[in-house]
Amino acid sequence: MEIKSATFVMSNSDVAKCPNNNLPEYAFIGRSNVGKSSLINMLTNRKNLAKTSARPGKTQLINHFLINGNWHLVDLPGYGYARVSKQSKKTFQKFITDYFNKRKQLISAFVLIDSRHEPQKIDLEFMQWLGENAIPFAIIFTKIDKVKPKALENKINSYNATLLETWEELPPYFLTSSSNKIGADEVLNYIGEINNSLN
Ligand code: GTP
Ligand code: MG
Repeated sequence: MEIKSATFVMSNSDVAKCPNNNLPEYAFIGRSNVGKSSLINMLTNRKNLAKTSARPGKTQLINHFLINGNWHLVDLPGYGYARVSKQSKKTFQKFITDYFNKRKQLISAFVLIDSRHEPQKIDLEFMQWLGENAIPFAIIFTKIDKVKPKALENKINSYNATLLETWEELPPYFLTSSSNKIGADEVLNYIGEINNSLN
């Protein structure tokens, strides 16, 4: 899919105030600093459409972007990071769970996983929660420029093996590097095919 236009629509923390139309939407979620906002910039080929930072906790709100005038990309705050207390670090912010539970326009989530790391409990729990709530998702392994090809293959295989301990089948997954602009076409074509199937 070619991106002809990408514009910021709005930011807020209340799912009830998100854009009130029926355009299909796709949301990017994952631990703070995993690269959600950078990925949105890569996909849209815009440098600063979504705000990024080397410090975790940059994205604080639900951010809607209108793509090609007919679907939404949504940048969400990361989970697993909070300045408040150790206890709340584990908690997914309520407005994020509200967003996933209530947003009827959401077609699929993309759960971003840092390709350098071993499977993390908080990510596995979040995917479990999506499954229990019947929210479709795909996985995006990010920052693959940081891992050598053979090590990357091993990481992905072992990640998938961990998933198969609890899931009957694997979700679709993608490998990306926003720094090296790898993987955008695959993700966009996946979204494009789903959008076409909705018409
Ligand atoms: P929060 O909004 O805080 O939850 O973070 P985020 O998931 O939106 O991450 P963000 O896109 O802001 O990126 C976090 C850091 O990772 C920044 O310093 C980015 O430059 C870096 N980063 C993101 N994607 C990549 C990538 O593909 N490769 C490399 N090497 N660095 C990346
Ligand atoms: Mg962000």
